[in-house]
Amino acid sequence: MQAAELYNKLRSVQNGTVLCQYSMENCEKLADLINQINELKKEKKVAILAHSYVAPEITFGVADYSGDSYQLSKNAMETNAQTIIFAAVEFMGETAKILNPDKRVLIPGTNTGCSLADSITGEQVKKLKEQYKDHTFVCYINTTADVKAACDVCVTSSNVTKIVSNIPNDKIVFLPDKLMGENLKNELEKMGVKKELVLHTGTCYVHEQYDPDLVEYFRIQNKGLRVVCHPECHPGVAMLSDYVGSTGQMLDYIRSLPEESPILLLTECGLNARLQSELPNRRFIGSCNLCKYMKSNSLENILQTLKEPGKAKEVKLNTTVLTAAKRCIENMFIYNER
Ligand code: 13P
Ligand code: SF4
Repeated sequence: MQAAELYNKLRSVQNGTVLCQYSMENCEKLADLINQINELKKEKKVAILAHSYVAPEITFGVADYSGDSYQLSKNAMETNAQTIIFAAVEFMGETAKILNPDKRVLIPGTNTGCSLADSITGEQVKKLKEQYKDHTFVCYINTTADVKAACDVCVTSSNVTKIVSNIPNDKIVFLPDKLMGENLKNELEKMGVKKELVLHTGTCYVHEQYDPDLVEYFRIQNKGLRVVCHPECHPGVAMLSDYVGSTGQMLDYIRSLPEESPILLLTECGLNARLQSELPNRRFIGSCNLCKYMKSNSLENILQTLKEPGKAKEVKLNTTVLTAAKRCIENMFIYNER
C-alpha cells in the first residue's frame, strides 16, 4: 500500500481527537507498518479480524474482516487460516476460540478488557441461577467464556430483541448490560411481547456517557439531523434516536440515508472514522468517545504478534468451559434462525 493511497482513505476522518486525524506524513509511517504486516500475514497464513472500533489504519490497512461482533464470530468460522489475530477485545477473541477450538487465536491489544465483560463472573452467574431457578439466562456476547458457559443463550446487539422474543420461557435473566436490558424491555413492550426481565448492573463506560440533553441540543442546532445510536446507550438517548442498532446495522442504516442529512452517530468513534472515510461527502457532527480497550490494538502490536506469536497473548480455554460456552453461542444461532 502506498502512503498516498492510505492518506486518500483517511484524510476525511475528522473526529474529535488527534488519534483520529491523519496527515500525509503519518500515513507514510503507517503505510510502512501496513506493508510489513501484509507481507508477513500472507507468508504465515494468518487472518486478521478487526472490530469496527479499532483505529482506522487497522481496518483499512490490514484487516481481512472488519465488522460487528456477530459478523466477526461468523468470519472466524469462515476463514481457512489456522491462526487468527483478533484486533478487538478479549471476549471477542474468546468467542472466536470457542467457535474454532482447533485454531490459534492471538490478541495483539495490551489492555483488552471491557467494562461490560468485566462486570460479572461465571461464579456470580451460578449464584444467580440458584436464586432464579425457573428463568432462562441470556447473556450479551460482551461476557467472558466463563459467563457464557454458565448461561443458556448468547445474544449480540444485532439480534437481542429477536432472540429474547423467540425464547419460549417468559422469565428471563438478561446480563450484564443494564442499559441494553432497559432498551430491550422498551422494544419488547412496543412489539407487544410479554417477558419478565431481571437485569444486572453492568454498563459500557463509552456508551453510557451519551446524554439525552446532547441529542436535544444537536437537534436544535442541525435541521434534518438523523440520530443513530448503539443499544448500549441510555434508554433516554435511544428513545430520541432515529435508529438504534449494532455497529454493523448502524453502518447499513447510515449508508442508506439521503446525502443531505447531517448525522449524529452515538457510538465509539472508530465507527465514525470508518464512515467518514467511506462517505466523505456526508456531514458527521458531534462527539467522539474512545474505547481505551479497543484502542489498545495498534499496527505496532499486530506486527509484533506476527513476528513473535509465541510471546503474544493467546486465548486458551479449558475444555469444559469451551464446550458449555459453545452450546450457549450455538443456541444464539438456532434462535436467530427461527
Ligand atoms: P457490536 O456487537 O455492535 O459489535 O458491539 C460490540 C461492542 O463492544 C459495543 O460496545
Ligand atoms: Fe466494552 Fe464498551 Fe469498549 Fe464495547 S465500547 S468493548 S462494550 S467498553
